[in-house]
Amino acid sequence: ERVALAFSGGLDTTVCVPLLEEEYGYDEVIGVTVDVGQPEEEFEEAEETAEALGLENHIVDAKSEFAETCFDGVKANATYQGYPLGTALARPVIAQAILEVAEEQDCSALAHGCTGKGNDQLRFEAVWRGSDMEVIAPVRELGLTREWEIEYADEKDLPVEAGNDGVWSIDTNLWSRSVEGGQLEEPSYVPPEEIYDWTAEPTDETEQIEIEFDEGVPVAVDGEAMDGVELIEHLNELAGAHGVGRTDLMEDRMLGLKVRENYEHPAASVLLNAHRALEDLVLTKGERSFKVGVDHEWSEKAYEGLLFAPLVEALNGFIDETQTKVTGTVTIKLEGGKARPVGRDSEFAVYSASAASFNTETVDGIAQEDATGVAKYHGLQERLANAVEADVGER
Ligand code: ARG
Ligand code: SIN
Repeated sequence: ERVALAFSGGLDTTVCVPLLEEEYGYDEVIGVTVDVGQPEEEFEEAEETAEALGLENHIVDAKSEFAETCFDGVKANATYQGYPLGTALARPVIAQAILEVAEEQDCSALAHGCTGKGNDQLRFEAVWRGSDMEVIAPVRELGLTREWEIEYADEKDLPVEAGNDGVWSIDTNLWSRSVEGGQLEEPSYVPPEEIYDWTAEPTDETEQIEIEFDEGVPVAVDGEAMDGVELIEHLNELAGAHGVGRTDLMEDRMLGLKVRENYEHPAASVLLNAHRALEDLVLTKGERSFKVGVDHEWSEKAYEGLLFAPLVEALNGFIDETQTKVTGTVTIKLEGGKARPVGRDSEFAVYSASAASFNTETVDGIAQEDATGVAKYHGLQERLANAVEADVGER
């Protein structure tokens, strides 16, 4: 019997390899590392660790697909409690890719190294439990702690790096980098500068960039067309240098736990701010306010790893309809760790300079004085209600 393990080369997944053989009795473990834009070093680490373990490891490139998912998030202005959902959006993509390798490789089971306290176990299993495969979660099922894992790895002489892996738990992909654990678990502990890898400490320097959207999807930066992966990587670098996209939040996880999380997401901050600025220009007031609720529901489902839900398909119907007008450009100023929209332009703008201007007499043939009747009526009901209240109060 063979089992496919979601393998990163980090501590959790490394200890899972011998445990799946010893504790669960599998004849062979195969690793699957899915590329959703982790840094090069992580693949080197995964490969070296796999080699030292004698583990057959498969690497699957899912970067473009993941970039598309991130852009679905942009269309939905998706954030959860202020975080652009990088980890959450990646999990179903990773889970699906692993399932496909497992089927090809004649596996009968799937395993992950997530804890029983987090969200990731739920996101992986929401996808996997739709298959016939056995699902195994050694860290959760055997009640492992990081301390136990470090000791076990040491005893077994497993190839784990002593570095940050022992201190923080880090999850990186194209859309965000998350750091948790260690002293960071204490909400009052101020994160040291060294936890940041994508963002510099903000300086006084500023920079303006122009983002172009086609139907809600970012397609170019400063006039240069790029594919999704390139565009995100480019903006992570550009905006990261200005310290854009640091979030330190108290996150309410699915199981009810409140956890302190730190994130870096420069490209996501730029694109989400730019996208919202363009929507503000092209959507009507009614569409904008209704979409806030739609976006919120979409984000909740994304956080839960349930983008395949029928609800999401229905929400996407509304989102896609609105996005047919979200074409144009937005100028973003990178300053002091912020990505601030400072200009926007679209042929779909629900905006008429002459109508809004103080310098023109008529709008669509309507003169200023035509508003007199509206002004007389405005607040009528409120005035009536207050008068009645005052009257009854006196009696
Ligand atoms: N709590 C976040 C989420 O559920 C991210 C967790 C990332 N994992 C990590 N080991 N840093 O989306
Ligand atoms: C874990 O607990 O395995 C990582 C964090 C999470 O899933 O939220």
